[in-house]
Amino acid sequence: MNILVIGGAGYIGSVTTELLIKKKYRVIVLDDLSTGCDFLVHPKSIFCRGSVLDRKILEKIFTKYKIDLVYHYAAKTIVAESMKKPIMYFSTNINGLTNVLEVMIEHNVKKIIFASSAAVYGKSKSFPITEETRKEPCNPYGASKLCCEQLIINAAIAHKINYVIFRFFNVAGSSITGKYGMAKKNPTLLIPALNDCLINKKKITIYGNNYKTKDGTCLRDYIHVHDLAQATICGINFLKKNKSAIFNLGTNKGYTVLDVVKMAKKNIDPTLKFFFAKKRDGDPDKLLTNAKKAQKLLKWKAKYDLKKMIISDYKFRKKYGKFFK
Ligand SMILES: NC(=O)c1ccc[n+]([C@@H]2O[C@H](COP(=O)([O-])OP(=O)(O)OC[C@H]3O[C@@H](n4cnc5c(N)ncnc54)[C@H](O)[C@@H]3O)[C@@H](O)[C@H]2O)c1
Repeated sequence: MNILVIGGAGYIGSVTTELLIKKKYRVIVLDDLSTGCDFLVHPKSIFCRGSVLDRKILEKIFTKYKIDLVYHYAAKTIVAESMKKPIMYFSTNINGLTNVLEVMIEHNVKKIIFASSAAVYGKSKSFPITEETRKEPCNPYGASKLCCEQLIINAAIAHKINYVIFRFFNVAGSSITGKYGMAKKNPTLLIPALNDCLINKKKITIYGNNYKTKDGTCLRDYIHVHDLAQATICGINFLKKNKSAIFNLGTNKGYTVLDVVKMAKKNIDPTLKFFFAKKRDGDPDKLLTNAKKAQKLLKWKAKYDLKKMIISDYKFRKKYGKFFK
């Protein structure tokens, strides 16, 4: 099977590519390296450098390689940036997907796996969040992902496409081999930001201490990137049965920012210091899912815990930090 991974030089895309190659799939990676990195391009993948916004490059890839399935992971992904540049977020995320779907239809490719996000739920008040929970995104990033989902669902009906849409909750950790992971110099996500502070002996900033949680800091559902990649690979078998579905991917274990900081202090460096800053726009108090649907229909279960996520990310940052963007 030939699989096109768009965004395969990024965090989740590179971990997924490594696993796909291990399972003997032929992987073509399309990435413009805007946030991805050279060293995350798997040596056994076929790498095409270019943007998903450039239809011509997509057409070339689909003509040259007989693509059977597309993983679409390329996107603008930073919530705070999306609050400042909403038009850029909508235009990149939606136009990129429109190009992919159009070229898939032209080339009779009928299977797509799409990376959506827990951000589509916004400030949900019912927990755990299920796939049916009301979608009320509270930032342009989440709103653009919800539009993308609608685009896929509508195109699927008209053009007989099968899709799996994954709504990822908070992803963390590096691949099990330790070679692929989150390679950002100034990360905005908690676990890599925390490890960046540990490595560089800096204080960690905690944004907000009056959220409606047990200790006033945001609560999130963290999933190990290897577990997540395993789930997305189960998605291939699901698509082979000509089925379509949306799945939440999380672990139903909620940790506050302070819980994560305490875990890092206990397991890496007890001298880590933190301070509180004002809340960031667009951050909901809580995000927690149970992923029961994915467990049942994909026969998948998360294996790795928060400690493993923090430590594997720490080791990855220490080893490859000089190559980060
Ligand atoms: N990391 C998370 O916690 C998380 C949570 C929910 C959803 N997601 C979604 O998962 C996907 C992957 O996220 P990630 O954390 O790996 O991000 P990332 O930034 O590491 O990866 C995105 C990749 O896409 C590439 N890219 C961006 N724009 C492109 C374009 N126009 N053309 C070609 N390539 C382009 C980047 O260079 C990068 O390699 C995204 O769609 C994101 O919205 C991530």
